[in-house]
Amino acid sequence: MDIDFHKFAAGSGIACAILPLFERTTEPDPLPARLFPWAAEHPGLLDFRGKDNECLLLHDPAGAAGGSPAARLLLWGLGKKDKGSLKSLRDAVAGALKFCRERSFVSVGLPLAALEALRDAGIVADMATAVRESAAAALLGLYRGDLCRGKEDEDEERPADPVSFSFLYDEEEIPLFAAARLGAGEARGVVLARDLANFPANRMTPAMLADEARKVAEKYGFSCRIFDDEQIFSMGMGALYAVGCGSRNGPRFAVLEHCPEGKEEDRPLVVAGKGITFDSGGISLKPSASMHEMKSDMAGAAAVIGLFAALGEAPDCAGLPRIVGLIAAAENMPGGGATRPGDVITALSGNTVEIQNTDAEGRLALCDALTYAQKTFRPSALIDLATLTGACVIALGDYGIGLFTDDGELRAAVLDAAREDGDLVWPMPLWDEYDKNLKSEIADVSNIGPREGGAIHAALFLRRFIEKGTRWAHLDIAGPGWVGKSSPLNPAPGATGAGVRLLCRLLRDTRVLLRA
Ligand code: BES
Ligand code: MN
Ligand code: ZN
Repeated sequence: MDIDFHKFAAGSGIACAILPLFERTTEPDPLPARLFPWAAEHPGLLDFRGKDNECLLLHDPAGAAGGSPAARLLLWGLGKKDKGSLKSLRDAVAGALKFCRERSFVSVGLPLAALEALRDAGIVADMATAVRESAAAALLGLYRGDLCRGKEDEDEERPADPVSFSFLYDEEEIPLFAAARLGAGEARGVVLARDLANFPANRMTPAMLADEARKVAEKYGFSCRIFDDEQIFSMGMGALYAVGCGSRNGPRFAVLEHCPEGKEEDRPLVVAGKGITFDSGGISLKPSASMHEMKSDMAGAAAVIGLFAALGEAPDCAGLPRIVGLIAAAENMPGGGATRPGDVITALSGNTVEIQNTDAEGRLALCDALTYAQKTFRPSALIDLATLTGACVIALGDYGIGLFTDDGELRAAVLDAAREDGDLVWPMPLWDEYDKNLKSEIADVSNIGPREGGAIHAALFLRRFIEKGTRWAHLDIAGPGWVGKSSPLNPAPGATGAGVRLLCRLLRDTRVLLRA
């Protein structure tokens, strides 16, 4: 679906205009009748209350020939004004777009006047935010996670997405064009991240995941380098290699880079993602209940690739700092070549690791990515995203992202970015006292600590690979990477693209991250 702008005028040819409206207290909201005089006489208008998700579809009695900017008007309830938020707007736009798809409306319009009303009511800070979030919500609301339908699907009537979603303006405003493009670009990044994580593991192997990184690089002009299993081995990435050796689908390591001209010497922001395309647990095999969900154990890597897609779509890509994305991809399987509990491997850093539990594989894949990042790039900041621990889900629930960092500024920046539009990020401790729990009798470190505080022990394991002076943050997205319950912007069960928009928002305010 294209996102664009149209003058709010007769003959725009929009099939349906949507108007999000708050619940009214007394008189009907005057906005519909003001924008669409033909609707003024419509008796249904008197009945519409604007309750949460209430909707009313009105038709211009004169049809397309009537010269109205839109042949139909869809009123969508936002619920109570005092409870209004950016989320109410996003949910309404997403709901309205789904409604329009069900009815095969080809073009959908949103009058900017409706967003101005939300701004005047203090629900959104400014028009750019309202436009950006509406554009994103329109695309995310239409997301379908069913990527593998085959023959059955051809038989079924499946309505196609509208061809266009247009903001209807009275006067052109360039900043709003950029805002729409930004929101749409971020949503396309989220959609890609969801797709990658929703594909089953036989259709998204480490090689395929790395190939997706390459495709994004080719499409948007980033550079991309991919290391295969032999190169991973000979480079000395013994930890990532150890995770992949029980699978016929060998590991891959991908390096994406956005380097604007003249910034080649800048220290980049490096973002690393856990890319376990399937986590069976390895020899420390997981129980079979919901093991299939472990096809999305590459949600961190998917977020990194989605971030680059979003950057590529952004209106001011060249104005961004130097950014590097690392994908540590492997399949954790219990094949004949698999790493055994008790094995000792040497990581890229030179540290030896006793692998006491092969199901604690994410930290192994990531530790080599972290070492690679520091050796190669001297990052201005290093952020990793990973579906790292079930313990983090126990601690923070299905939607909470655990944030682990010793850097106060980076912590504040991530929390600010999250707060801005409702990502649930919570700071977690990196207590030195717990670090000794990772002690191994035979190697430099063990890959597991006690079960209690499992998310902290995993993060402390990663910190062992962070050199003094590197500003580093770890985001455990094990909970929010996947949802069991659907919401207006996210069908379930399925992947969410968690982390993509959080990183995008963080990048919009890069001051903290770019201090050399
Ligand atoms: N990929 C899992 C963590 C996970 C669990 C992600 C649930 C999403 C939902 C990770 O590799 C894992 O298996 N972690 C173990 C670590 C343990 C063996 C120390 C865990 O959390 O149980
Ligand atoms: Mn695991
Ligand atoms: Zn895992």
